[in-house]
Amino acid sequence: MKALILSGGKGTRLYPLTYTSAKQLIPVANKPILFRVIESIRDAGICDIGIVVGDTANEVKEAVGRGGHWDVNIEYIHQPVPLGLAHCVKISQEFLGDDRFVMFLGDNVIQGGISPLIREFASSEWNSQIVLTRIAHPEQYGVAELDDSGRIVRLVEKPKNPPSDLALVGIYMFDKHIHEAVDGIKPSWRGELEITDAIQWLVDHDYAVHPYIHRGWWIDTGQPGDMLEANDLVLEELDYKVEGYVDRDSQVGRRVTVERGAEIINSVVRGPSIIGENTRIVNSYIGPFTSIYHDVVVENSEIEHSMVLEHSHITDVGTRIQDSLIGRDVVINRSPIRPRALKLTLGDHSKVGIL
Ligand code: G1P
Repeated sequence: MKALILSGGKGTRLYPLTYTSAKQLIPVANKPILFRVIESIRDAGICDIGIVVGDTANEVKEAVGRGGHWDVNIEYIHQPVPLGLAHCVKISQEFLGDDRFVMFLGDNVIQGGISPLIREFASSEWNSQIVLTRIAHPEQYGVAELDDSGRIVRLVEKPKNPPSDLALVGIYMFDKHIHEAVDGIKPSWRGELEITDAIQWLVDHDYAVHPYIHRGWWIDTGQPGDMLEANDLVLEELDYKVEGYVDRDSQVGRRVTVERGAEIINSVVRGPSIIGENTRIVNSYIGPFTSIYHDVVVENSEIEHSMVLEHSHITDVGTRIQDSLIGRDVVINRSPIRPRALKLTLGDHSKVGIL
């Protein structure tokens, strides 16, 4: 089997973080989502991976390379214009050949990996397997309607009146018949070749599409709130280890990871949380559900339920920072210069919540 990871898109809903970075490279619990996707594919025993890239191609290539880090072979497929998920399959035909494959959206995080699912599909006669999960607002996703015996009747993309609460998770498995399907469909109202329509084509042409109902958590990290939620869920499942330095005046909880080269000085760190490589936490409080990435400094400050990306400096901030997503190279400090006022230099689309 092969794997196709989709890592295009502009990530506009995550501006300003994604002005300078691909959304698939934003770290969840200090590891880019895309790396988590590659790991779960590798753990399922697949070595040949194609990554579909768009505007952020250079950055994705630079971060991931040829796959040696994970012992897999990675090829890149360029999608010049984002014309839909089925279009990604179309332009990947040469890479995929007639092989069975799994297609994984590079911004989806799912509990428990995909090994059992892939094993099941690899040894089955099914032409496709889709992953469904019950959610509260299915209208934002592809939605499946099943009959009483659990077979797929119909799939609809972002329906106003969803026929069920079963959303399509961004993980799909196909055999070569999907290539006929993507050639057989027309663009949707949003001008995209929808994978949902291609799967409906398979159903309509009597190919076997097996619905697998996933019962763990699943997050599509489209928006800042989703990002923090994904971070919470992954933090709860980490193998916690302290590899950095913790001084005697600090208290570090049991569910805390302190990565190599990090230093915790006279501080309290409550888990679940993670402190990245070469980060310094000095005279500070880091509360539960916080990920601080590498080379960050937090000094005389308090931060909880937040994500801080690399090379940021947070010093002498009197008010606790909470529920926040802080990007790269951000500086937050107390200014001694009068007038006493908020002095902000914020990029386009920044959001600041004032007390
Ligand atoms: C895509 C699919 C949709 C699926 C979702 C999962 O939506 O079209 O069927 O439920 O991914 O993340 P999009 O991200 O294009 O809005």
